[in-house]
Amino acid sequence: MTSVLTDEKIPNNVNLSSDKRLQRALEAWQPAFIDWWKQMGPLGWQERDIYLRTAVSVETDGWAHFDYVKMPDYRWGIFLEPKQEGRTHGFGDFEGQPVWDEVPGEFRNLMKRLIVTQGDTEPASVEQQRDLGATAPSLYDLRNLFQVNVEEGRHLWAMVYLLHTYFGRDGREEAEELLARRSGDADKPRILGAFNEPTRTGSRSSCSRCSRTAMASTSCRRSPRAGSIRSHARAGSC
Ligand SMILES: [Fe+2]
Repeated sequence: MTSVLTDEKIPNNVNLSSDKRLQRALEAWQPAFIDWWKQMGPLGWQERDIYLRTAVSVETDGWAHFDYVKMPDYRWGIFLEPKQEGRTHGFGDFEGQPVWDEVPGEFRNLMKRLIVTQGDTEPASVEQQRDLGATAPSLYDLRNLFQVNVEEGRHLWAMVYLLHTYFGRDGREEAEELLARRSGDADKPRILGAFNEPTRTGSRSSCSRCSRTAMASTSCRRSPRAGSIRSHARAGSC
């Protein structure tokens, strides 16, 4: 299971190349993810070299790689904890019984909903924080902000891997939707309300789709919910 920054398009320790169909599906999702990152990631910093930690495995003897990287070129990957034989549920109704390798049919919808909801928070927080770099009190804070942002991207990859691997076509469609919703958007908001709340320098002041500020645009209209902004998209201007 040990992995390093490989030449594979998607760095991973899940033997992705052994499942060509899954690999192709995730490689098709990858450019949409990068497009989303360029559109909704940290505003004004996409072309800068940022000193970042990249996860390259889950082993304790060296799981991280540090270097300068432009954020859109960051090597997001899929790294799961290795399977442990004999592992059991640690709590709940199934305590003591073997953990599942496949999703039980009776829990399929529930688990998909949980994973989608969790997955949705990952890009949502990146979107909510996209303007924070403008007010970072120090370089230290700025670097930490961007590290958190790219980690959120990695968490999103983990959830999307689960959706693609265990939930078939439903899962693939949900993975696309994770890149279609936008924090604070009137038409396609994020799932959890907290991620649609305006931040002082964030969604209150900028359009959730094109990043133009509300002040600079007459076509950004206040939504019925106080403080949030309707996207320009609704008015067909972005
Ligand atoms: Fe996260």
